[in-house]
Amino acid sequence: MRYSKEEILDLLANWLDEEFFTHSLRVRDMAKGMAEKFGVDTEKAALAGLLHDYGKGIKEIDIISEAKKLNIPVGYIEESDPYLLHAPVGAELISSQLGIDDSNIINAVSRHTVGEPSMSKLDMIVYIADMVEPARTFSGLEKIRDFDGKRLIEVFELAYTHTLCHLVRRKKLIHPKTFEVWNWIQLVRIEEGH
Ligand SMILES: [Fe+2]
Ligand SMILES: [Fe+2]
Repeated sequence: MRYSKEEILDLLANWLDEEFFTHSLRVRDMAKGMAEKFGVDTEKAALAGLLHDYGKGIKEIDIISEAKKLNIPVGYIEESDPYLLHAPVGAELISSQLGIDDSNIINAVSRHTVGEPSMSKLDMIVYIADMVEPARTFSGLEKIRDFDGKRLIEVFELAYTHTLCHLVRRKKLIHPKTFEVWNWIQLVRIEEGH
């Protein structure tokens, strides 16, 4: 890694708007706590949580051209909702600008909006931590935040279902990959006998 933890914090504080920086700190802490609970490397979870919104350092108006520059596919869904691109763009930028070379961390950053079939535990933790960090408020949040007695895939299913229902209710476009992620969750449940 090119920078120390302290240097990364400084770089991030300058790179992101204050609102996203403080959100990133909360996601870092939440991801770390979840990693402890679910048996994942806490340092990796903290760093992935801290950097998950690195792509938000690119203005929304510039994100499509930045994605194209980085050879990230931009389909009709991303054209309509460029916000989605901050995840894969951020994943590329933490590698090229910060020298992060751990593919587990890069993937977790890249997968925190739409997800990916066969998500790792770290991927799921960052996705969930982003959604339930302490400053979030939405109806149904407490149910997702209550990790007690649940497997990580169950918490992820609750979080993912919430997002999917939200998109349907608001008549938003749904990324085709969302269905692959949904089907993957169900197959894991069937395999695990739940
Ligand atoms: Fe994000
Ligand atoms: Fe976020």
